[in-house]
Amino acid sequence: MMENVLLPKLAKIVKSEKMTAIERFLQVEVLDKKFAEVFDYQPGQFIEVSIMGVGEAPISTCSIRTKKGVIDLCVRNVGRVTNAIHHLNIGSLIGIRGPYGNGFPMEEMEGSNLLLVAGGLGVAPLRSVLQYALKNRAKYKDITVFYGIRTYDTMLFRDEFYNLLAEGDKLGCKFYLSYEDSKDKQCISLEAEHSERCMCGVVTKLFERIKLSPEDTYAIICGPPIMYRFVVQELTKKQVPPEKIYMTLERRMKCGIGKCGHCIIGDGTSIKYVCKDGPVFTYWDALHTKGMI
Ligand SMILES: Cc1cc2nc3c(=O)[nH]c(=O)nc-3n(C[C@H](O)[C@H](O)[C@H](O)COP(=O)(O)OP(=O)(O)OC[C@H]3O[C@@H](n4cnc5c(N)ncnc54)[C@H](O)[C@@H]3O)c2cc1C
Ligand code: FES
Repeated sequence: MMENVLLPKLAKIVKSEKMTAIERFLQVEVLDKKFAEVFDYQPGQFIEVSIMGVGEAPISTCSIRTKKGVIDLCVRNVGRVTNAIHHLNIGSLIGIRGPYGNGFPMEEMEGSNLLLVAGGLGVAPLRSVLQYALKNRAKYKDITVFYGIRTYDTMLFRDEFYNLLAEGDKLGCKFYLSYEDSKDKQCISLEAEHSERCMCGVVTKLFERIKLSPEDTYAIICGPPIMYRFVVQELTKKQVPPEKIYMTLERRMKCGIGKCGHCIIGDGTSIKYVCKDGPVFTYWDALHTKGMI
């Protein structure tokens, strides 16, 4: 009999840490040893997380695979399913399906500079891109990260990114941080310590700080919908071609595998399933698909 692909596999929560007032880091481990053996995922892919009796939500993997069957997730509490996830304890069981989606074309980008632009929770999927690129450091030229936060309290993976701000160059990564609240004392002191890499303003202000060579740079964007337009404007000014600007999109999803039609965008000439054709698209795709950004 054919296996039902919509049937979740059980996974156990092995780590659960509060990151901010609304975000929690979870590490989960799949129980089925055979499945754990083959279960692998790429930066930019997502899994469907289910809580029995509550529902399912698509959540991006936020790291590369370091151990068979283990997945790192960063979950923002916004509604029914994500709230239920926040209330689970270590040892609780959840369901997972996937991995789904296309992910970022890490091989295609080899030999080029990478510019990662993240806003808020968007840093979660981009963290896996960064980990992949740093693990395969010799395959990429310059790696630059722009991370925009509102306040220090909303900063995700704080220790890790503080370390990159202070020591990133030694690891081959130029890390820049922008913050929006000009009165935030912790951000102000970060800026005083690292004035060349940290500044007050929206994430696009960081473009003032770098020189881009558009012919061999790929840009990867993830953040709130409003951010895309402004980041794309900056990249376009710097002449990065639309096909070298990647972004990952969020849409309401159900099946995650291109069957239910919940995530369709576009019209007659270009129809895309965000779950199956994406969630990673280029700006070129956005220019040719109605309603993409
Ligand atoms: C490919 C993909 C990857 C994602 N990765 C992550 C991740 O790594 N971490 C994370 O915390 N979240 C992620 N999300 C968003 C997450 O799936 C939604 O927040 C979640 O499904 C909300 O479900 P809920 O039952 O908790 O909220 P609901 O009770 O369904 O809704 C609560 C509120 O959130 C809004 N909402 C729900 N889903 C979405 C959505 N997809 N886009 C915009 N608004 C929405 C609703 O309109 C409502 O206002 C991702 C979404 C997609 C499509
Ligand atoms: S979520 Fe069902 S088709 Fe995309």
